[in-house]
Amino acid sequence: MIEIKYSGENMMEQYAVWLDEISFAYDQNTVFENLSLQVREGEHIGIVGDSGGGKSTLLKILAGLYQADSGGVTVAGKTEPEQIRGQVALVMQTNSLFPLSVRENITCGHDIAEADLWRICEYARLTKWIESLPDGLDTNVGERGNQVSGGQAQRIQIARAFCKNAPVILLDEPVSALDQETRQYVLYALDQLTGGRTVIHVTHYPETLDDSYKIYRLEGGKFVCE
Ligand SMILES: Nc1ncnc2c1ncn2[C@@H]1O[C@H](COP(=O)(O)OP(=O)(O)OP(=O)(O)O)[C@@H](O)[C@H]1O
Ligand SMILES: [Mg+2]
Repeated sequence: MIEIKYSGENMMEQYAVWLDEISFAYDQNTVFENLSLQVREGEHIGIVGDSGGGKSTLLKILAGLYQADSGGVTVAGKTEPEQIRGQVALVMQTNSLFPLSVRENITCGHDIAEADLWRICEYARLTKWIESLPDGLDTNVGERGNQVSGGQAQRIQIARAFCKNAPVILLDEPVSALDQETRQYVLYALDQLTGGRTVIHVTHYPETLDDSYKIYRLEGGKFVCE
């Protein structure tokens, strides 16, 4: 699948994600060399692979947070990182909260009706916890989100992804910090978010992904079909 060559602009339009022979290194540590990936609009891709293989780095490139050293990156028809950022919702593996309120961390400036915001909080299984906070949704999460648990931070990011309403969803082990019961609930809720959209979901547990997912392994900086 992965190494298809394109023959012109029209073909590219069918793809939500088009990585054309990208290379990326952290200083001397090369993570990818000439890596290509095409994901069609609405396609669901699962990515597995050994720790340190570059999965999170890849998602950050796809989210427009990192720039490839060479090669082409097109996401939802955009090629500039700042434009790409507007087209993707990324749930990061690590805590990515701002030192602001829970509300601000979820809405990120999007204008969301209060009832919709609470519905999203329910999807992300956050309601009970938010209701227990001294200032509810307006409680500050602390510097770098240090006043919330890993699982709460993860669910705030999931709620944030619901608010963004982006065509491309990037999930980096989005439920890894959740207990079994909450994980099942949130995975089910994530189906509401991902239905009809392009999704790349990094996980060490591909068995938790439904049949709509094609699974690839990232190994030695290349994709291998599972
Ligand atoms: N900010 C960084 N600065 C320097 N090197 C980094 C940085 N982030 C990751 N790396 C290195 O890049 C490589 C790929 O890391 P990455 O986090 O993308 O792997 P991963 O596949 O997501 O691993 P995991 O399954 O443990 O989450 C590793 O060798 C890692 O040490
Ligand atoms: Mg990772």
